[in-house]
Amino acid sequence: MAGRLQDKVAIITGGGSGMGRDTVLRFLEDGARVLVADINEDNGRETVALGKAQGHGDHVAFTRCDVAEERDVAAMVATAEATFGTLDIAYMNAGVGGAFGPIGETAVEGWDYTFAVLVRSVFLGMKHASLAIRRHDRGGALLSTASIAGMIGGAGSHAYSAAKAAVISLTENVAAELAPHRIRVNAIAPGIISTPLFHRGKPEKYEAQFTRQPWPERGDGKHIAAVAAFLCSDDARFITGETVKVDGGLLAQGLTLWGAGADNPLLRAPGVNYGSTGRR
Ligand SMILES: NC(=O)c1ccc[n+]([C@@H]2O[C@H](COP(=O)([O-])OP(=O)(O)OC[C@H]3O[C@@H](n4cnc5c(N)ncnc54)[C@H](O)[C@@H]3O)[C@@H](O)[C@H]2O)c1
Repeated sequence: MAGRLQDKVAIITGGGSGMGRDTVLRFLEDGARVLVADINEDNGRETVALGKAQGHGDHVAFTRCDVAEERDVAAMVATAEATFGTLDIAYMNAGVGGAFGPIGETAVEGWDYTFAVLVRSVFLGMKHASLAIRRHDRGGALLSTASIAGMIGGAGSHAYSAAKAAVISLTENVAAELAPHRIRVNAIAPGIISTPLFHRGKPEKYEAQFTRQPWPERGDGKHIAAVAAFLCSDDARFITGETVKVDGGLLAQGLTLWGAGADNPLLRAPGVNYGSTGRR
């Protein structure tokens, strides 16, 4: 049976680790040919080896790319076209935690690095990938990894959150521009996902953060990969300009002003609060 992404050619940045690696493997399973792009060559090549070990042979290749550098991003797109003959999908997923600390002590270099890796990268990916997709004239999909930190305060550092908010804004504006060319532009806003970026090799240390969300299982790269495959497939052909939260209900839970889950008295027993009406 043909896969959901049969014969599509995709680039996935940050494909050397975490949700990027899981998405590479998922896209291959779904029939795509994938160029893995990462600044970490060892990890990127390891992802390719995993893909080949799963029987995907020459459907997967690696290119070293610093997503913050225009020359590298242009070369990455050219490599995808040269290797696989066309380009249908670009997933701008690479990222880092970036600058943190008090605003008064944040160095301009740290701020600029954060925005270069998290925002300039998405702009450059959208720019060069859209030009290539338009050259082949058969439409396509651009996807980026934003974050729930770009939707609300308190989920990341100020620089990280501001950068991810910019990704959400770019997604909307570029979607409107590219729709006439049949290029869809979407983003995923992950919640807490158990990847090396989040747990830095020690998942047990972050158990409290992992259990904040209402959904019982912790977020996994495969959850993101499944949504990425859907958003880049023709099943999502009328979805563009959208940022999809994939967070186990973390933001739906909101302020938890009265306590979360079983601690919330509003969920303990049924009743009606009649306010100041005089009715008891
Ligand atoms: N893990 C989470 O909880 C979480 C939540 C929300 C958003 N995100 C976002 O998800 C994306 C993927 O993160 P992850 O959790 O899988 O992390 P990860 O560290 O496992 O993977 C990120 C990959 O990006 C690569 N990368 C970093 N800088 C790069 C650069 N300049 N050029 C090319 N590649 C570069 C790294 O080498 C790495 O392979 C990031 O954009 C991150 O901000 C993660």
